[in-house]
Amino acid sequence: MRATGDFTRSFAVNGEPVSVAAAPEERLTTVLRDRLGLIGTKVGCDAGDCGACTVLLDGAQVCACLVPFAQVEGRTVTTVEGLARDGRLGRLQRSFHEHGAAQCGICTPGMLMAASTLLDREPMPSEEQVLDALGGVLCRCTGYRKIVQAVLAAAESRHRALEPSDCATYVGRRLDGVDGIGKVNGETRYGADTAPADALWLRVVRSPHAHACFVLGDLAPLHARYPGLRRVLTATDVPGVNGFGIYPTVKDQPVLAPGVARYRGEAVLALVGERETIEQITDDELPIEWELRPAVSDPASALAPNAPPINPDQTSNVLTRGCVRCGELPAGGDGLIEAHGEWTTTFIEHAYIEPEAGYARPIEGDRIEVVACTQTPYMDRDEVANVLGIAPERVRVRPSACGGGFGGKLDQSVQPLLALAAWVVGAPVRCVYRRVESMAATTKRHPAQMRARALAHRDGTLVGFEFDGDFDTGAYASWGPTVAGRVPVHCMGPYRVPNVRAEARAVFTHRAPAGAFRGFGVPQAAIAHESLVDELALRCGRDPLEFRLQNALRVGDRTATGQRLEASVGLSACLEALRPRWRTLRSEAERFNRSHEGRPIQRGVGIACMWYGCGNTSMSNPSSMRVTLTRDARVVFYNGAQDIGQGSSTILLQIMAQALGLSHEWIEMVVSDTDLTEDAGKSSASRQTFVSGRATQLAGEDLRAQILKLANVGEGASLEIASHRLTVIDGAMRHPIALDQLPVIEGEDVVLVGRGQFDPPSTPLDENGQGIPYATYGFAAQIASVAVDVELGTVKVDRIVAAHDVGAAVNPTLVEGQIEGGIAQGIGFAMMEEFIPGRTENLHDYLIPTIGDVPEIECLLIEDPEPLGPYGAKGIGEPALIPTAPAILNAVYHATGVRLRRLPILPHRVREAIEAQRGDG
Ligand code: FES
Repeated sequence: MRATGDFTRSFAVNGEPVSVAAAPEERLTTVLRDRLGLIGTKVGCDAGDCGACTVLLDGAQVCACLVPFAQVEGRTVTTVEGLARDGRLGRLQRSFHEHGAAQCGICTPGMLMAASTLLDREPMPSEEQVLDALGGVLCRCTGYRKIVQAVLAAAESRHRALEPSDCATYVGRRLDGVDGIGKVNGETRYGADTAPADALWLRVVRSPHAHACFVLGDLAPLHARYPGLRRVLTATDVPGVNGFGIYPTVKDQPVLAPGVARYRGEAVLALVGERETIEQITDDELPIEWELRPAVSDPASALAPNAPPINPDQTSNVLTRGCVRCGELPAGGDGLIEAHGEWTTTFIEHAYIEPEAGYARPIEGDRIEVVACTQTPYMDRDEVANVLGIAPERVRVRPSACGGGFGGKLDQSVQPLLALAAWVVGAPVRCVYRRVESMAATTKRHPAQMRARALAHRDGTLVGFEFDGDFDTGAYASWGPTVAGRVPVHCMGPYRVPNVRAEARAVFTHRAPAGAFRGFGVPQAAIAHESLVDELALRCGRDPLEFRLQNALRVGDRTATGQRLEASVGLSACLEALRPRWRTLRSEAERFNRSHEGRPIQRGVGIACMWYGCGNTSMSNPSSMRVTLTRDARVVFYNGAQDIGQGSSTILLQIMAQALGLSHEWIEMVVSDTDLTEDAGKSSASRQTFVSGRATQLAGEDLRAQILKLANVGEGASLEIASHRLTVIDGAMRHPIALDQLPVIEGEDVVLVGRGQFDPPSTPLDENGQGIPYATYGFAAQIASVAVDVELGTVKVDRIVAAHDVGAAVNPTLVEGQIEGGIAQGIGFAMMEEFIPGRTENLHDYLIPTIGDVPEIECLLIEDPEPLGPYGAKGIGEPALIPTAPAILNAVYHATGVRLRRLPILPHRVREAIEAQRGDG
């Protein structure tokens, strides 16, 4: 519809002439997406910081969000939709797809457009030119390396070698992502990309204060001024429980704050109405009276005597504690070598490129449907039902594609607000968070204050470890209990340590809730244990890698929780795989430093290890999978595991193909629809490959066994589907299965159903933290090579070598992608990322690694099979990130002799530490 002030512009889009009427200041992104339906152009920040909306304007890359409509007259615009010709992918698109360069895919259109303009002007670019050309587009998933490879391969018209299509070997193949085409041609629908045409819009009004009471005045004048405002929702509109939270007994975060806001960014009101109207209303026009209250901004203040309670339902500002105690910690002395220290880390923002978005609508049967980006559709269903006061069966959640999560989309954001609005108004309602809103309001990585001490015999045997940590969990519980529980189990590192005292506390403050972020506190704890292990090694006169190898957990060892490790403990293999690189890189760095003594650039090489329990800590976390066979030989895999870009859809399809012994091309897949698929749990805790993978294998094997039984043949037979007929082939014998003679047992002509369920065995931890918290663990070691400018304090990471025990690499391309992406986030954690409420709430001030910050990465995949895992596999999502930051810190020590204790290691902090050590600071 043409609004007052609109004017018409004629230009060309993807070679076609168009005329559009819009306001002159309207962003080109809005014109492309909302008026021309070209949703391949994504919006990540509306500020020119992320580059997701990169398009070509007269052949040059621009951020479409910064181009006003008034400037497009007579010009040519090319979007990702213009890269394909006659429905066939362009060479860049194909190369991205083949190289696994699109994970969540939200940055992919922007990357493709930046790369296409490079190849237009430089057909055979160098790697440096690729880094230059793509430097304006941020990717939070991939670590950029596969993107660079894809661009270089496209330039050379190189295709990845095809692997033999042997259905017996689906596990271990570099299968292209099954959901990858839509990511490279722009057709994949994310949270902001789809909604009913008649949907109203919702805008959340948020607290500008860290702690304040408020009262709402008369809304009638506002409604009179703005007829397009349909409803102002407050806490009193919530028909069910005005609260959500991860733990069933802790629903402490309100959907809308009931008169008191406990952090800056908390949702206070929701405006529902016509889009133009709710965007027009400023917060100053709202009749809200604020009364400021003192805010507690750090755990030390929250734990001080007489500190005011932050959450009125809690008697203390300590949300929860976790502990592990075993043996008797030696006091020190007695010939023992000791190292100790204190470390500080900050809030880390997930910075997924897709802000939270989605829609909700009433559907038939007095039900509600929610379509939004999420990592946890089943929890969304239950939370929405609880908020609306209805049975979970009356809620359907159909997730959109998810443009990155990393733990940040495990908590509720738009889901309960949209459901509430659609329920109350009785109409579809949609919402897209603005970037600043997303960063201010949603969960973060817990800032940590950690103290630790480690002891070893002079021969290098670790004998004791002590850890004490406070983790700032913000205003609401979120995943605080998980962090407090997981950290003490992991805080001594993947080593045999007979005597341990470890405690972690999650502490409330008046800050943004800290929740899940790739590792649940383990990355913070790894900073401490890997620094101490490094120190002990050097004091024992041992090589840091050999010291770690001497103490590495092995099969048959007991962990500090008393768990005996029965299988798949690949840390020693990781360290041994790294040894040749370690020796070469260390000696190269030392040679460089000797020849550059007294000069500003010094080189260093560090190493760090990690372990990580796959799945929930000491809690049931089952997954259920189902596969059906119809009378016309359609195989349909109902897969409830939400793919957030990590590739679970592809991995699980490969596992299903392997279990059935049937080409993946014959398997249709229905992914994550709470009405159709079964509960596969959350996409978190590195559990989907391990837990849902095992459930998938069991479901596939169940269906295969039923088919083989019908043919009355043994396990070695193979299956074939042709012309809607299923045949079992047993040696020279062919057994057609008369599926149309079988009784239909489900809708859609289903005649056979295979089911699988897996809940990894664990036990609760007792009061000393003793028990079996996880069924299996991932192990890894990484080497970081850095160059430090000791005058400026700048650190450049030159190379990372990563060895990860993944049990079995179901799809090596996807595993490498997870490792490279995790390393990029580890670099950000170590070197640049620091979320400060009110100050770094955008992607301009909050820095994440760009393509130029991620060095060459070498991945060494170690496969020490896990007997419980699907074909030996276990998780990789979180392990990838954990060793990177401590390896960088140990490399900086190797270069400078300075142990850095506060993250991120910004140049001024590095410089101060060097000066302090020299005694001239
Ligand atoms: Fe780049 Fe997800 S693939 S942001």
